[in-house]
Amino acid sequence: MSDHIQIERHGAVQIIRMNRPDKKNALTRAMYATMTKAIVEGDADVSIRAHVFFGVPGAFSAGNDLQDFMAFATSGNMGSEVIDFLITLVNAKKPLLAGVDGLAIGIGTTIHFHCDLTFATPQSYFKTPFVDLGLVPEAGSSLLGPALMGHQRAFAFLAMGEGLHAVEAKEAGLVYKLVETDELESTVLNVAAEIAAKPPEAMQISRDLLHMPRQDAVERIKLEAKLFAERLQSEEARGALMAFLTRKKG
Ligand code: COA
Repeated sequence: MSDHIQIERHGAVQIIRMNRPDKKNALTRAMYATMTKAIVEGDADVSIRAHVFFGVPGAFSAGNDLQDFMAFATSGNMGSEVIDFLITLVNAKKPLLAGVDGLAIGIGTTIHFHCDLTFATPQSYFKTPFVDLGLVPEAGSSLLGPALMGHQRAFAFLAMGEGLHAVEAKEAGLVYKLVETDELESTVLNVAAEIAAKPPEAMQISRDLLHMPRQDAVERIKLEAKLFAERLQSEEARGALMAFLTRKKG
């Protein structure tokens, strides 16, 4: 389990807070495992009615830890933590909300395809540099992205790696509302409390009805993961990862 994920309670709301500020909340295998456990346990706990993801000021998440990706590329072993997390996210039984401030990269962005409501500050920035890293979209984003924002915007975003500023992410449907920084957490928690106060069975059935068939998303996540693992072994990916890990900061 990871100390870089803090699990907190706010009434009937479970807060899953990514807290690795020195690495801009890059996600390690241990962090994924802790988040998976929190969602599974929260779903099983009748006193919890919603899950909320927060990051730290300036960084929701810089995406998967690139050191971990390099380790996968070298050992050929992807581990199961990432895919377990993604499948748990798809199958989450209770509403998922997120509050984003600052950087949201890779899975820091694609997680929002699974959130019911994402709030972001105006300075937030969403980017998926998969292809530039020699990789492919993940987390079901190749299926959910075009469905949400249309093929061309999804192509520019997920294949070309064009970033979206907060206002553009809202326009694309990835973000529900923009909120000023000092009101981000209180706004998300108030809305989560509002959801938590509604009849939980009706909420769950309604949410299920609104979801694309979950099996479709799970199948796509598995296909993407297979291709992603193959790409991690490629010269393109190794070169891009090495360039990041050996870069000189000036
Ligand atoms: N994996 C591992 N470490 C990461 C990381 C990641 N995804 N993102 C940032 N870090 C680390 C940096 O290596 C740096 O560590 P150091 O201080 O020990 O050198 C620290 O976090 C701060 O990052 P830095 O690059 O100095 O901050 P910045 O504000 O200039 O840039 C980013 C922030 C996120 C734009 C930049 O770090 C970046 O591009 N990261 C990679 C993002 C990425 O490609 N994610 C995977 C998507 S699939």
